[in-house]
Amino acid sequence: MATDITKKTHETKLAPRRERAGWTYAPSPEAKDHVRLKGRYDLFIDGKFVAPHSGKHFATHNPADESHIADVAEGDEHDVDTAVRAARKAFEGTWGKMRGSERGKYVYRIARRIQERARELAIVESVDGGKPIKESRDVDLPLAAAHFFHYAGWADKLDYAFAGRRARPLGVAGQIIPWNFPLLMAAWKIAPAIACGNTVVLKPAETTPLTALLLAEIIQECDLPPGVVNIVTGAGKTGGALVDHAGVDKIAFTGSTDVGKRIQRAIAGTNKRLTLELGGKAANIVFADAPIDQAVDGIVNGIYFNQGHVCCAGSRLLVEESIHDVVVRKLSRRIEQLRVGDPLDKNTDVGAINSKMQLEKIHELVAAAVSEGCAIHQSSAKIPTKGYFFAPTFFTGVSQSHRIAQEEVFGPVLSVITFRTPDEAVEKANNTMYGLSAGIWTDKAAKVFWMAKRMRAGVVWANTFNKFDPTSPFGGYKESGFGREGGRAGLAPYLEMV
Ligand code: NAI
Ligand code: MG
Repeated sequence: MATDITKKTHETKLAPRRERAGWTYAPSPEAKDHVRLKGRYDLFIDGKFVAPHSGKHFATHNPADESHIADVAEGDEHDVDTAVRAARKAFEGTWGKMRGSERGKYVYRIARRIQERARELAIVESVDGGKPIKESRDVDLPLAAAHFFHYAGWADKLDYAFAGRRARPLGVAGQIIPWNFPLLMAAWKIAPAIACGNTVVLKPAETTPLTALLLAEIIQECDLPPGVVNIVTGAGKTGGALVDHAGVDKIAFTGSTDVGKRIQRAIAGTNKRLTLELGGKAANIVFADAPIDQAVDGIVNGIYFNQGHVCCAGSRLLVEESIHDVVVRKLSRRIEQLRVGDPLDKNTDVGAINSKMQLEKIHELVAAAVSEGCAIHQSSAKIPTKGYFFAPTFFTGVSQSHRIAQEEVFGPVLSVITFRTPDEAVEKANNTMYGLSAGIWTDKAAKVFWMAKRMRAGVVWANTFNKFDPTSPFGGYKESGFGREGGRAGLAPYLEMV
C-alpha cells in the first residue's frame, strides 16, 4: 500500500534533503509600524462609535502568539435594537429614497477607500485572524474591494437585472459572519445589500472583529448616511439577538451548520428572508489523465491555503486508483516545502489556526482518524511553540465512513480516497451531507462537463481550485445552505420582485 512508500520518502529522504538544499528562507516580516489600532473599540451605530449598553468589552487576540490586540464592545439586545432602529430610519429616510445612481457612488467610494487602506487592512486581518499576509494581501483585500466595485455597478441597473420585473429592496438586513474571511465576508454581505437599497446591521465573528471595525471607519470617511451600515460586535448571543429582532427583514448567515440550523428554527414562522452559507466537505477529483504536477499544486492550494479555514476547501482528495501512489508521493514532497509560521512573514504559506478551540477540534478529528486506522502523513515543519499552529497533514487508507472523510475539519488536513470509474467518483464525491464545491482535474473537457452535471455542489472548478470572482455566484446544496452570493444571482436575496 502507498502508505509505506510515502512514509519512507517522508522520513528518510525528504527532511534531510530540504535542509541540504537550504530551503529555509530568512525571515521577511511585513512592516506593521504604520498600522494604528486603538486599544478599545465601541459599537458602530447610526454613523457613530458608541459605548455598549452593558459597558462590557472583550479581548481579541493574535492567534500566532496569543498576545492581546484590542478590546471590543460586547453588544447586547439593547444595542442590537438601537442598531436595527437606526437601520430602519435610514431605510425609510435618506437611503431608501435615494436614486440607485447616487447609492452606487457611495458603494464605489467604499471600494476605493478599501484599496487605499489595503496594506493596513491586510496586516490587521493577518494579526487578528492568523492568515498569512500573502493571502490577506493578495486574496482577501483585492476581492473585498472587487465586491464593492461589482455591486456599485448594479445599484442603478436593478430594473434591468431581472427581465420584466421590478426590483425593490427588502428593508433591514441582519448579517452574521464567521472568522475565516472577516473582511471579505463583510464585503460579500454589505455590498449587495446596500447597493440594492437595503440597510444593514452586521455582526462580525468574536475572534476577528477588527477589520469590520476598520470598515466602519471607512464607512464614516465615505460619508455614508448614518444608519445605512451598523456594526455590532459580540459573540453568539449578540448574533442571536439580531436573528430574533422583529425589526429585521432578512438574515444572511455564514458559519457552522449547527448555528445555521438553529437560525432556521428561530425564524421559522416569521416573515424574515434567510440565506445560509454553511460548511463543506468538498471533493477534489483527480483523474489519471490530469496534468499531475498542476493537480498536486491545486490540491495543496485547495486544502492548505488559509490553514484549511475555508468552507469550500478541497478536504477530500478523490484520486484515480492508478495514479494514487504517484500523487501521494508528490504530495508528501510538496507539503514538506510549505512554510508554517508567522502570518506576517511574506514567505509563510500556512499561518496560525484561528483559535485554541479550532485547534482543539482539528486535534480531536486527527486523533479520531489515527485511532480509526487511517495512515497519517504530516509535514516535518517546525511549529512555533507559542500560538496555535498545525502542520499540513493528510491521511491515506481512508474509507468513506471514517469521521475524517465525513466531518468538516476546517484545518490543514486532507483525506485521500481512491476511485476507479467516473461513476464511482461522482458517487463518492456526492456522498456527504454537504454540497458547496468540488474540483475536477482531467485533460478531457467532455469529462469535466459530464462530471459537473452530476455533482451536487454549488461551485465546480475544473483544473483549478478556490478561484473567486465577484461576478460568479457562490453557494451550496444540501446542508451547505441555500441562496447565492456574488454576481447578478447575489442581488436576488436582497430584493423583492414585483
Ligand atoms: P459559528 O457558526 O459559531 O460562528 C459563526 C458566526 O455566528 C459568528 O459570528 C458567531 O458569533 C455567530 N453565532 C454563533 N452562535 C450564534 C447563534 N446562536 N445565533 C446567531 N449567531 C451566532 O462557527 P464557529 O463556532 O466559529 O466554528 C465552528 C465550526 O463551524 C468550524 O470548526 C467550522 O467547521 C465551521 N465554520 C464554517 C464556516 C463557513 O464559512 N462555512 C465559517 C466558520 C466556521
Ligand atoms: Mg483575534
